[in-house]
Amino acid sequence: MKTRCVAALAILLSFSVCCAQTLPPNIQEAVVLYQPLDMFPVDLNAAVYLNQNNGSQGSLVKVDPHTLELTCIEVSSKPLHLQLVVPVVGSITKGDTLLILLEARTLEHDAAYESGRLHLNMERRETWTKSLGYSSAISDESQLLAIPFIAREDIAPSQGQVTIPIGYYPQKIQIQHLRLLNFGTQIQVDQLSTKQYEYEGYQADAPWRTLANERIETHRKAPLNITVLDANQNPIPEANVHVQMTKHAFPFGTAVNEWRMIGQAEKDIIYREKFESLFNRATNETSLKWTSWVQPSRQEMAMQTLDWLNDRDIPVRGHTLVWPSWNKSPAFIKDLQDDPQGLRAAIESHIREIMTACQGKVVEWDVVNEVHNNRDLLDVLGDEQMDEWFRLAREIEPQLPLFINDFGILQGSAGYELAKQESYYQLVKGMLDRGVPLDGIGFQSHFRLYAVTPPTRVWEILDRYAALGLKLGITEYDFAWVSEAFQAQYLKDYMTACFAHPSVNQFVMWGFWDGSHWREDGGMFALDWREKPSLDVYMDLVFNQWWTDENKVTDAQGHIQTRGFLGEYKLTVTANGNTVIQTLSLPKDGSSLQIVMP
Ligand code: XIL
Repeated sequence: MKTRCVAALAILLSFSVCCAQTLPPNIQEAVVLYQPLDMFPVDLNAAVYLNQNNGSQGSLVKVDPHTLELTCIEVSSKPLHLQLVVPVVGSITKGDTLLILLEARTLEHDAAYESGRLHLNMERRETWTKSLGYSSAISDESQLLAIPFIAREDIAPSQGQVTIPIGYYPQKIQIQHLRLLNFGTQIQVDQLSTKQYEYEGYQADAPWRTLANERIETHRKAPLNITVLDANQNPIPEANVHVQMTKHAFPFGTAVNEWRMIGQAEKDIIYREKFESLFNRATNETSLKWTSWVQPSRQEMAMQTLDWLNDRDIPVRGHTLVWPSWNKSPAFIKDLQDDPQGLRAAIESHIREIMTACQGKVVEWDVVNEVHNNRDLLDVLGDEQMDEWFRLAREIEPQLPLFINDFGILQGSAGYELAKQESYYQLVKGMLDRGVPLDGIGFQSHFRLYAVTPPTRVWEILDRYAALGLKLGITEYDFAWVSEAFQAQYLKDYMTACFAHPSVNQFVMWGFWDGSHWREDGGMFALDWREKPSLDVYMDLVFNQWWTDENKVTDAQGHIQTRGFLGEYKLTVTANGNTVIQTLSLPKDGSSLQIVMP
């Protein structure tokens, strides 16, 4: 207990005496009351070091016992190839509330960006599994960061580390008074701070929101003009017209688990009901992947899933023809590694087979998935072999949009995986320059922890790819390992930013229920089907804010004029005691309709 008191005092002293900022009162109180344990070595300066990999260059200067200066001189392919490593010496138990405290400021930064950036990770060595990921722009004024988080696993003494990647772009950052405190289970994360919920533009009145609404109004809605006439073609004034949207034209979709789609258990039935009430687009989660397709039972499952969806008029995106690594391809493919001709033929025959089998059942295809991290097949065949896969796919399906798909472009280091973004851009551009039939660029968007991409950064990234003139698809959104409140907060902002961008042509999630999700808490429904706050956000956006349902009254000319979200509509017109119901499609160019009353 004595050591704890001393530690608590030391924390308060270091922050009250030497800092530009003082700790917020609630954190001071919590420190006094709960006496958290210090997780870093006593002599922090002696223990920290700079990790430099893959040609990144930088420096670490230990200015005084409380102050570190980190410089990135030369970037490598990932920000984390240049990072400060701080060993965690204390022991951590899954569920513990931890708090990182530090003061940070930018001393210098590359002129192409508005400020410096830092990222905070807390991870377990060897497995590299993370309990914290947080990323923030850092101004040139010293700011106190108090980032609380929950330990996602047990970490034995000396097994953990906090890392501060800085290899985004050339910059120099100052870090002071770095601490990692463990409160055990005595206090909830959000009682300490909600700083981790803040990213550029998170505020309710952030300026980007106005712009987003304007863009949504312009790009996602169209004029809808109705004239109500009587049997003699005379306009009927003061007729009531109920304009009700029945379906979005914009695809809001999800990956679906094939076992749930064909199963008869109660959970399967609930799963399908929820799916149908929420989404108008789907993609098979695994059964159209090559490794599944070669198994007859899985292929059967794939086709049953497609039929179920098609019977309900729910279009399906095909995922994925090729995922070019050995372990994402059937085992026999690896046997062809020394036989390029055989390998080429096997891939082509698979493309032919699966595309033919799915003809009329899918509306687009991911031709190739994750080529940056799955290169085995390309190492044998050369990158331009991908061109042939697209050409073949076009030959088989001249009408279907063909996509390339990858992760870590919109997501990844809070939108600053610059090298990967560049490489994806060049890859697509190269294909277009060579006349390859490529129609769309997929952005997976698997977010986790607190390092999210700010909405305006989402736009910057999308703008760059949009200039290539292709459709941009959000193909695999999910958000895991954060509080439910933050999961909801970011879903709202990310969906809004994406829906507001004119080139984005779909928003597809990667699952919606924790009981069937590749990330255990990534869904909008908990395991017991409890509705999480993110479901409210989704419902509010898709079926309320971006949904048209209006009662109008015709003017003297029998007209109503309005604007509605693109999609399918039901119109109910009531005049002089008669009611007429009519359906209508509202496409981008708008719709005009005359309704003649009996
Ligand atoms: C995942 C599935 O969700 C898992 O069930 C499976 O075990 C592995 O693949 N990027 C992709 C998806 O393109 O196909 C992956 O799906 C998730 C990451």
